[in-house]
Amino acid sequence: MKPIIIVHGGAGDIPDSRVPGKLSGTKAAVVAGHDVLLKGGSALDAVEAAVVSMEKDENFNAGYGSVLNLDGEVEMEASIMSGANLDVGAVTLIKDFLHPISIARKVLTDSPHSLLGGEGAKRFALQKGFQTIPPESLISKNAKDALQNFLKHGEFGRTEIGVKDEGGVGTVGAVAVDANGHVAVATSTGGMSGKAVGRIGDTPQIGSGTYADDNVGGVSTTGHGESILKYCLAHSIIRSMESGINPNTATKNSVLGMTRRLNNTAGAITLSKDGDVGVYFSSKRMSWAYVKDGKIFYGIEHGQFLEELYTSP
Ligand code: GLY
Repeated sequence: MKPIIIVHGGAGDIPDSRVPGKLSGTKAAVVAGHDVLLKGGSALDAVEAAVVSMEKDENFNAGYGSVLNLDGEVEMEASIMSGANLDVGAVTLIKDFLHPISIARKVLTDSPHSLLGGEGAKRFALQKGFQTIPPESLISKNAKDALQNFLKHGEFGRTEIGVKDEGGVGTVGAVAVDANGHVAVATSTGGMSGKAVGRIGDTPQIGSGTYADDNVGGVSTTGHGESILKYCLAHSIIRSMESGINPNTATKNSVLGMTRRLNNTAGAITLSKDGDVGVYFSSKRMSWAYVKDGKIFYGIEHGQFLEELYTSP
């Protein structure tokens, strides 16, 4: 099996000013993940590396650059799943670590549980050797501006990113199939600007934000969390593929199905177990990128399909 990885940098009404940063950060993330696969790394290693790259980058709503809750704090969430044995790890209400996805991976490998939150997740992370950082160091200017905008306009948009929102810049995710045919998926987010303290969205909920099954494929989602979790969007796409529908059509049908039923928008990236790609979003924009046959394919607008030569870092 030729390994493959696809990443997304979040769906929403992304303003023009944020497009270049999101495209370059999304391409950097897919290269980081693909490099792991080229060196013989597993799908789990690759999706973690891709998401770590975006958690460090303020162009994304994950890790540094996460949007803020009503108290002006970062509360992050992440999940990761291995399609080999359906093992999962997820964390929520993380305030003072840069890489929630790496803590989620530790939950997958080292905990008898699947989802840890808040104080318990912090205690687990410290026991596993993760270092805390000051919570304020995760707050970007864009995230502060986004909260101010939210407080002025006073209501949630149709996505995690509002039209006037310069700071809500998208959940991140990655899906990979490695040389051994194993599928893995990782997703990480700061949630939505102005969320209630303690609000938990779709990203840490398996079947909503993330799903992987070696027998079918993998999906990572982004968009309006409350709608995605009601629709179990990631698993809806997997179910469709199980019934024989190709990944692109399955992704489009489920995203549009969710939008029709719940009147909110989302996006998803999908790989079949054979490495066939699905990308669709019902929001205005969603950045995505994948590497195939020595080229990076990427886009952010509807119908956009750009390509350039892939160079390993
Ligand atoms: N999709 C991210 C969130 O709503 O939390």
